[in-house]
Amino acid sequence: MSLNALPITFIGAGNMASHMLSGLQRAGFPTNAILVTDTDPEKLQAITEQFAVQTTTDNRAAIQQAAIVILAIKPQSMHSFAIQNSTAFAHSPLVISIAAGIPLEKLHQFFGAIPIVRAMPNICVSIAEGNTIFFAPQLEVSLHKVADAFFSLMGITQWVLDEEQLDAYTVLTGAGPGYVFFILQSIIDAAQTLGISEADAKKAVLQLFSGATQLASLSSSSLRTLQQQVTSKKGVTEQVIETLNKGHMSALFALAFEKAYARGQQLQHLMEDELKNKE
Ligand SMILES: NC(=O)c1ccc[n+]([C@@H]2O[C@H](COP(=O)([O-])OP(=O)(O)OC[C@H]3O[C@@H](n4cnc5c(N)ncnc54)[C@H](OP(=O)(O)O)[C@@H]3O)[C@@H](O)[C@H]2O)c1
Repeated sequence: MSLNALPITFIGAGNMASHMLSGLQRAGFPTNAILVTDTDPEKLQAITEQFAVQTTTDNRAAIQQAAIVILAIKPQSMHSFAIQNSTAFAHSPLVISIAAGIPLEKLHQFFGAIPIVRAMPNICVSIAEGNTIFFAPQLEVSLHKVADAFFSLMGITQWVLDEEQLDAYTVLTGAGPGYVFFILQSIIDAAQTLGISEADAKKAVLQLFSGATQLASLSSSSLRTLQQQVTSKKGVTEQVIETLNKGHMSALFALAFEKAYARGQQLQHLMEDELKNKE
């Protein structure tokens, strides 16, 4: 089945919808055939100007004509969206929810026994360098292929068999660009204390990360071996690593991830409590 021939609807014209449309456009996908909805006509105006997509504020009509529906709204908007629109899914389109922390079981409670995939992309989809993790253990093979082919246009894809893994990847790759940018900026700030201008440091640091990550992907050596190759005894690299180790950088990362995962679970429970109170 050709993806180009499938009617696709995005619910929500926010950040992630824009990043995905940008990646699809880069990949040469005909974005002018995609229908995007939002509650805010101004956001729809902006997104159609940027990506030449079709737009509407009528969610129900947009769902009813779709073969694939991408749910790109905030997790906290999902319940009220479902209350208003669940009956529009009666024709069983393939639903792909990119919402963090809404379990598949809950999505089925909202939308019924239709094919649903949970996907966790990241903003690198905007340059077709994303890493999208999927969870949908019961999905038909043909629909599995459709979801995979669609997100493969925007980067690499990976399927997990355990929903907790998807939540773990939400911390690692979904949120990843945020802390990577933070780390890059911290290194750029540190470079300035050595007298390198911010612009020059940014250029150098981006090339450093790009070169080092490409080398690590192409090399058959482990990251530890590569690190040892540039860490001569009593040398400059050793000094940097020693200082970072004294600051317990690895332990700090483990703690940050543990806390972020717990935050995700906490938000999930809060959402479930809110739903129970509304019932
Ligand atoms: N940002 C990331 O890096 C990232 C990465 C992976 C996954 N995600 C997931 O992606 C989803 C979208 O995130 P985002 O950052 O793109 O959010 P966002 O910028 O807030 O975009 C969501 C859009 O949907 C609109 N909306 C809300 N209810 C709607 C409804 N009933 N019908 C149509 N449109 C509706 C919102 O309007 P209002 O603003 O008026 O509510 C907003 O314009 C979230 O569930 C998030 O967990 C995000």
